[in-house]
Amino acid sequence: MNFTKLIDAFGIPGTYIGSEELSTGNNNQTYRLHFYDNGDMFYIMQRLNTHVFKQPRALMDNIRRVTEHIGQKLKQVGCADAHRMVLHFLLNKDGEPFVEDESGFWRAYRYVDRAYTYDIIQDSFCFYQAGRAFGEFQRHLVDFPADTLTETIPHFHDTVDRMRILHEAIENNKAGRADSVRKEIDFILAREKEAGIIVEALDSGRIPWRVTHNDTKINNVLFDSQSRAPLCVIDLDTVMPGSSLYDYGDAIRSGTNTAGEDEENISLIHFDLELFEKFTRGFLETTADSLTREETLLFPTAARIMTLELCARFLADYLDGDLYFKIKKPGHNLIRTRNQIELLRQMEAATPAMEAIIADICRQG
Ligand SMILES: Nc1ncnc2c1ncn2[C@@H]1O[C@H](COP(=O)(O)OP(=O)(O)O)[C@@H](O)[C@H]1O
Ligand SMILES: [Mg+2]
Repeated sequence: MNFTKLIDAFGIPGTYIGSEELSTGNNNQTYRLHFYDNGDMFYIMQRLNTHVFKQPRALMDNIRRVTEHIGQKLKQVGCADAHRMVLHFLLNKDGEPFVEDESGFWRAYRYVDRAYTYDIIQDSFCFYQAGRAFGEFQRHLVDFPADTLTETIPHFHDTVDRMRILHEAIENNKAGRADSVRKEIDFILAREKEAGIIVEALDSGRIPWRVTHNDTKINNVLFDSQSRAPLCVIDLDTVMPGSSLYDYGDAIRSGTNTAGEDEENISLIHFDLELFEKFTRGFLETTADSLTREETLLFPTAARIMTLELCARFLADYLDGDLYFKIKKPGHNLIRTRNQIELLRQMEAATPAMEAIIADICRQG
């Protein structure tokens, strides 16, 4: 890959030494560029997947304003390490945070050195730290006017709409699979009423619209190599207006399932209450002054709804003939559906325990 034109367009200072592709991400193509400018300097150059993100300019406008807002907050409190605690995007000669050419839609930002990401949760401490990182993100953005951001993926967590799409998939029965998954269909539809709770709470004003990250997986937190403390939240492509409960609920969904989303052996799926406690503690410690009581009370419901949302999405895709999610084997979307159903079942059984943990943390705080 020749980066000469992009380096010039972003006006990156210093002598270009070379690049390497970072392979961890799924969506975008990520490179690390090495420069020498009175010392080693590294930048991330990333090509956005514009098949997935169809409004790249609006997406970059969202990211730019949100990162600038966090940067201001860090400056106000005189944070010494501020340049490592929020992504810093480079601007092209027209002052825009991207370059679009025949090779694609590119953005460049400072590489955070002496930092690492986890692909899987190593221990409950790192999940606690992830809770702190996503909580800090919410806290910094508590006064950001969320309604000025573009909804770059419409209806992303609109669970009412996700249920409508499932109904459609059942009715159309495109792949002729509906009869073989009646049990799964019944399980999900029996919970249809609960699916709408967050959407309705937002619409009625019971809970506020906020800036949400919308991809709160552990591998989107950068940790400091020395202190192991969380530095910043990355992968901001899905930053949109939404509910803090989406971020919280999806982190719990994705992080507390000890077997992972693709596990076929149901007996290995375990909703880990200790991990739940750790993330919740980290999230609440950092958001205590910014979240409303109503939001906190809905935490267990949010974890269940985000899991139910994925059940509905996987099953709808299975019924459609596997058009959306990449599958690695036949029946993969059904395996994922059953996996999430089992997780949800366990979450339902553990709801009183979750509520007790939250009450306990709030009392101590
Ligand atoms: N500013 C950064 N500093 C250091 N590493 C980064 C930075 N941004 C991304 N990375 C690394 O690149 C990987 C992919 O980046 P990410 O923005 O999460 O892309 P994707 O959408 O493909 O997941 C991350 O998991 C992380 O290891
Ligand atoms: Mg990522």
